[in-house]
Amino acid sequence: MANIFRDNLLTGKVAFLTGGGSGITLRIAERYASHGTHVMLIGRRQEKLEAAVAGIRGAGGSADSCAADVRDYDALQQAFKKTNELWGQIDLIVCGAAGNFPAPVLGMSANAFKSVIDIDLLGTFNTCRGGYEYLRKPGASILSISATHAFTPIPLQAHVCAGKAGVDMLSKVLAVEWGPSGVRVNVITPGPVDDTEGMRRLAPTEEARANASAKVPLRRFASKDEIADLALFLSSDAAAYITGSIVVCDGGQSLSGHSLGLA
Ligand code: COA
Repeated sequence: MANIFRDNLLTGKVAFLTGGGSGITLRIAERYASHGTHVMLIGRRQEKLEAAVAGIRGAGGSADSCAADVRDYDALQQAFKKTNELWGQIDLIVCGAAGNFPAPVLGMSANAFKSVIDIDLLGTFNTCRGGYEYLRKPGASILSISATHAFTPIPLQAHVCAGKAGVDMLSKVLAVEWGPSGVRVNVITPGPVDDTEGMRRLAPTEEARANASAKVPLRRFASKDEIADLALFLSSDAAAYITGSIVVCDGGQSLSGHSLGLA
């Protein structure tokens, strides 16, 4: 039985992480790598990916990268092939690529709405659909990074609310369809997380940060480490019977209604 406080939980595993060049998903990759997993970082910008890979290798981990936009199914296929050729079957997928900007519905074009739906929802579909043939079956785990937007209507965030609601439901359907093959599919739902591109966009000033923190029962943002610890647990055999779950890690934020203080 795995002991999550002592064991090296993911030794020798292979992980594929979209949005892995920065933010929460990079921290998850770093956590995986520190537990002995080979991590493939996927993102749009090669420079950013190379810096992230260098950081992981510098800390003694095994990492590589492949530039691909999750909206491009063929580019993702190339990235999966590369990962498979390098390290074999894929044990862990993290769908972490996301897009966001604050704007009211009347302040966004149809293309603006579509761009976030394409990154968040279609990108998650592309990653799961394209990755399935490369997954270790049984035993693989897929995690998507959602947001409290999926079940809380937040002004200026219609695109993200719609996209993340889709991600949650897609993940539940995949858990049902792929459970018999031994593939688990779960969702992590963070609230506000410190030192991320998302919060820099949504709470760019000290006043906005204080306003957002005040709405969280624990009165602070999460750290990226706290989200990475949850990802580590959900990806490991310690969570072998957990699938189709939306795991909220938001300091209680979603209990207090919409709370980003955007409008
Ligand atoms: N308000 C209203 N519309 C906006 C906008 C804003 N702040 N920012 C972008 N848009 C619109 C653009 O005008 C464009 O619409 P148009 O063609 O009708 O003019 C549309 O969104 C697409 O913009 P573009 O910059 O071409 O898309 P992109 O694919 O390069 O970028 C985004 C995607 C817009 C989601 C961009 O914010 C992004 O790349 N985000 C990734 C990083 C990120 O958001 N991280 C946080 C995750 S929580």
